[in-house]
Amino acid sequence: MSPIFTPLDPSQHLTKQASNIVLGITGGIAAYKAAILARLLIKAGFAVRVIMTQGAQQFITPLTLQALTGNAVHTELLDTAAEAGMGHIELAKWADLVVIAPASANTLARLAMGMADDLLSTVCLATTANVIIAPAMNQQMWAHPAVQLNVQTLSDLGYHLIDPDSGVQACGDTGAGRLPEPEALLEHIEQFVTQQSLVQCLAGKQVTITAGPTVEAIDPVRFLSNHSTGKMGFALAKACRDVGAQVTLIAGGKVALPTPMGVQRVDVLSAEDMLQAAIDAAQAGCEIFIATAAVADYRTRDAAPQKIKKTQDTMTLALVKNPDILAHISHNYPAIFMVGFAAETQDVEKYAKGKLAAKKLDMIACNDVSRKDIGFASDENAMTVYFAAAYQKAAVVLDKASKAAIAQQLVTLIGNTI
Ligand code: C5P
Repeated sequence: MSPIFTPLDPSQHLTKQASNIVLGITGGIAAYKAAILARLLIKAGFAVRVIMTQGAQQFITPLTLQALTGNAVHTELLDTAAEAGMGHIELAKWADLVVIAPASANTLARLAMGMADDLLSTVCLATTANVIIAPAMNQQMWAHPAVQLNVQTLSDLGYHLIDPDSGVQACGDTGAGRLPEPEALLEHIEQFVTQQSLVQCLAGKQVTITAGPTVEAIDPVRFLSNHSTGKMGFALAKACRDVGAQVTLIAGGKVALPTPMGVQRVDVLSAEDMLQAAIDAAQAGCEIFIATAAVADYRTRDAAPQKIKKTQDTMTLALVKNPDILAHISHNYPAIFMVGFAAETQDVEKYAKGKLAAKKLDMIACNDVSRKDIGFASDENAMTVYFAAAYQKAAVVLDKASKAAIAQQLVTLIGNTI
């Protein structure tokens, strides 16, 4: 009998996502990075309106930001151009999110005191939107107890702070206080916005994900591997992080993808290394284990210690079976919620259910790899998810979508099942 397929209702995991950002720029040499950030935010789909303090205007001009955002830049608290002369209230209501980058020591102090003597500080008091603050200043100033006290006060008041980077500063000093690069600021902001819009269904959960191929040595310079890129596992790591999980990502082979912010990455090469890393994670309190890795089924029985010479016309490699990482963890750590993946070309349901039982899984996500438009190396995927019989859940079809969207839906299914 074929299963009853139920599509996933997006309202189960999504609320309205922030789209209007008020970008506050204060006086500091890092103000030039705010111009690039404004551009990146617009490219990422946000509507951006800029407030500049008097100090900011000493470093870059409002015209630059006006040209980049397509909106007039706001600089005055009392604005005759604003409807009813109350620009601060209009901006405060319009904002879904306020980002202050760079935030000077002076602005931190004034916000911590709740002052309202310029447009930016007044908007921060008048808005119900979240406020993200990215401080930037000389390292000695950043280390000053008064500044640190203000940072603590702001955090207690519910402001969200992005730590400054360390490194060489414009003034020639070296230390903490640099504004992170605009790309990194964008990543922080996007992560924050996504997190705010998602039900935190894995809050505080420890999740381990295996991803990518494994690499099995033949000799010191050659290996057996496969075409897996790790994209699905990395997308899942982000999606789990975005709903509150603490994620350990075990990346096999030589995955070339950047590590998602806030995710702990463990790089391994072979299946045996991956198994050891998985056992370490299981013993460290893993609660949910998601196996997306394309583990090589076989490895060479004896990897040659020296480079093999081409002296013979033919050669035979003796192979031995690799451990099944997913099955090992599920059989030895029965309390962990286990999620497997299966790539099939036919009889998808039959094989998926067989693996679900044989590997003692709670959930299996299955894709049809005979389709050219999804799966390996592609940015898109489509899956059917089956659950262990004990959950009495019908299979769920996840229609073709980006791996990021599929990952979010899978995470919602996990959250609804655990
Ligand atoms: O048996 P098969 O390779 O089709 O199973 C696929 C699932 O098992 C995937 O979740 C994969 O990551 C996992 N697996 C594993 N260790 C292996 C082989 C597969 O963890 N040696």
